[in-house]
Amino acid sequence: MLLAIETSCDETGVALFTKDGKLVKHLLYSQVALHSPFGGIVPEIASRKQLEVLPPLTEKLLKDCSVKLKEVEAVAVTFGPGLIGSLLVGVSFAKALCFRFNIPLIKVDHLQAHITAIFLEKSVEFPFIALLVSGGHTAIFLVKDWEEFYLLGHTRDDAAGEAFDKVAKLLGLGYPGGPIISKLAEKGKPGVLQLPRPLIEDPGFDFSFSGLKTAVLNLLKKNPEVKPEDLCAEFEEAIAEVLVKKTLSAAERLKINRVVVAGGVAANKKLRELFKNEASKKGITCEFPSPEFCTDNAAMVGALGIKLWERKRFVNLLEEPYARGSYLSL
Ligand SMILES: Nc1ncnc2c1ncn2[C@@H]1O[C@H](COP(=O)(O)OP(=O)(O)OP(=O)(O)O)[C@@H](O)[C@H]1O
Ligand SMILES: [Mg+2]
Repeated sequence: MLLAIETSCDETGVALFTKDGKLVKHLLYSQVALHSPFGGIVPEIASRKQLEVLPPLTEKLLKDCSVKLKEVEAVAVTFGPGLIGSLLVGVSFAKALCFRFNIPLIKVDHLQAHITAIFLEKSVEFPFIALLVSGGHTAIFLVKDWEEFYLLGHTRDDAAGEAFDKVAKLLGLGYPGGPIISKLAEKGKPGVLQLPRPLIEDPGFDFSFSGLKTAVLNLLKKNPEVKPEDLCAEFEEAIAEVLVKKTLSAAERLKINRVVVAGGVAANKKLRELFKNEASKKGITCEFPSPEFCTDNAAMVGALGIKLWERKRFVNLLEEPYARGSYLSL
């Protein structure tokens, strides 16, 4: 059995896998309600809550699965990127278990795990193009193998999820912004108001979303009477158009007809629809994890952890520091 742990931000996730890669069960504790009054995540609160929640959540998982702690043969844990305090809770807990039971520790990169979440439900052939679009990151990768991630482009400022969250804050809608904006956008019409599509004509694969956020602020200042649902619809469409165009042009440029879209924002309905429509016109297949596996969870950590376990990519318990994984360049 493999125990997978995710504590990179404000979600505590634990998952159990059989050695042959079957997900037995995963549990998730979300701190959203704790951070909501602040309109964003407060790192100190997040790490203290991780510390409180991780041990009993692990106990519950083992009990639910009728598995004893000593039956766990390896532990996979998110090493980074993320909030340092939150990460340290998961990494220290995992290391302690590995010391106690003399079992191997597997280091998992959070962004790579978001992408490999797709393998929990589907098989996608390597190589493929991946768009990772989450709260803290927006990047396009060429993925050649479980351990070969080539970074093609990334955001120069805000991540797409961060833009959703900050625009929701500007509109006084609450946190996290993505699902709230998406719901409101269903009642509005894109195009009634105009927002820019940053870098859409740029031939590179970088993104920029901070200007879009400022454009929303300026629009609100100029016309406080705008209908929030129309603003949300236009904002959502602007983000979706940029993400889809850049990702599909990366696929075309590299002549790869498989795309995976992962991370919290990949749960967005409008984005999923636009991707499916535009990709099918170009003969590209586009896969998304179920919304449950788009936002942070430990099942995705195990999806990659199982493969690294099979390949015996163990880390030294005393020497391995907190660190993100490495990305290659073409
Ligand atoms: N339906 C949705 N539409 C748009 N955005 C969404 C939706 N659901 C969630 N999000 C956004 O996804 C983000 C959270 O995703 P995720 O949990 O992957 O990010 P994170 O772990 O905080 O960041 P990172 O993975 O970059 O470290 C938030 O910004 C949230 O607003
Ligand atoms: Mg994440």
